[in-house]
Amino acid sequence: MQDDALHAVVVGAGTMGTTLAKLMAAQGVNVIVVDTNPHVLETSRLSMGESAAAVGFASELTVGQRPDFVIESVTEDVAVKQKVIAQIEVSVADSTIIMTNTSGIPINEIAANMRLPQRFLGTHFFNPADIIPAVEVVPGSHTTASVVETACRWLKQLGKRPAILNTCVPGFVANRIQHAVMRECLALLERGVVEPEALDDIVQYSIGVRMALNGPLCQRDLNGLDTHLNIAHYLYPDLDARDKPAALLEDYVAQGRLGAKSGRGFYRWSDESRAQHQAQERESLQCIIDIATQHAKGNAP
Ligand SMILES: NC(=O)c1ccc[n+]([C@@H]2O[C@H](COP(=O)([O-])OP(=O)(O)OC[C@H]3O[C@@H](n4cnc5c(N)ncnc54)[C@H](O)[C@@H]3O)[C@@H](O)[C@H]2O)c1
Repeated sequence: MQDDALHAVVVGAGTMGTTLAKLMAAQGVNVIVVDTNPHVLETSRLSMGESAAAVGFASELTVGQRPDFVIESVTEDVAVKQKVIAQIEVSVADSTIIMTNTSGIPINEIAANMRLPQRFLGTHFFNPADIIPAVEVVPGSHTTASVVETACRWLKQLGKRPAILNTCVPGFVANRIQHAVMRECLALLERGVVEPEALDDIVQYSIGVRMALNGPLCQRDLNGLDTHLNIAHYLYPDLDARDKPAALLEDYVAQGRLGAKSGRGFYRWSDESRAQHQAQERESLQCIIDIATQHAKGNAP
């Protein structure tokens, strides 16, 4: 490890904290991952493979740790996050930048009780954080421009593509779009329009593969905005616009159908099929990212 390496702490060693620490270790950052649950820490260490040798593991934040930045990646609950941020604030120097990996809780809500909210911002990574390039960078109303600039510089050093939001909105950009898509998918299932397998096939092999190469706006430019408008006129009145989660989703979760982790969601899963799918996905994601990056180089509008 070089002397001028960045020093970081990741708080929360769950799904995201683990791949965040793995990312940092791979990029030469001196990283410690903290979790109050010792079993989670051990699982995290085991799942990092060889990278674990370059990562520190701790069950609590200690005063005296002087990281350049801390990423909070604990449970998606505003009260839990506020408590953790308060602990981080008393443990680190005033110059340390504090980031939250929240999926979409407004930054000002998490920062409500902070002593120095100007050094706090959202950096929303995507799972797995060591592979997916995009990071939503979300300043709160107190975050200084220099903190945003420094965070973006470090993210680029980590090989990421930071994208800054002008305004913090719940769910940021990615989860708003993901949920808008899923609201319509669930409505189509509830209306009996299509079976899950057919829906997945249609989306994956049409919109899905296209969006791996072009963002939705670039894609619509290529398609023609006049055509998009004509469709929007007749289609919008029929799209799902409810302001509550679909009953189908509520029912599945109430029955314990939580997806691959519980053995059943829209599909049935075994531990083996889940592990195989996830391992294959990691490999394939990297290929898709390489193709998308190549495509973008040759096709800048
Ligand atoms: N899972 C995803 O796909 C994903 C993607 C992007 C962002 N996120 C966000 O990242 C954050 C973490 O998500 P996750 O999926 O890794 O959750 P997770 O449940 O896998 O992990 C959360 C971890 O936080 C730990 N924790 C709780 N309180 C703590 C405390 N006081 N101090 C230290 N550790 C504590 C828990 O022990 C747990 O290990 C959430 O804000 C989530 O919304 C998740």
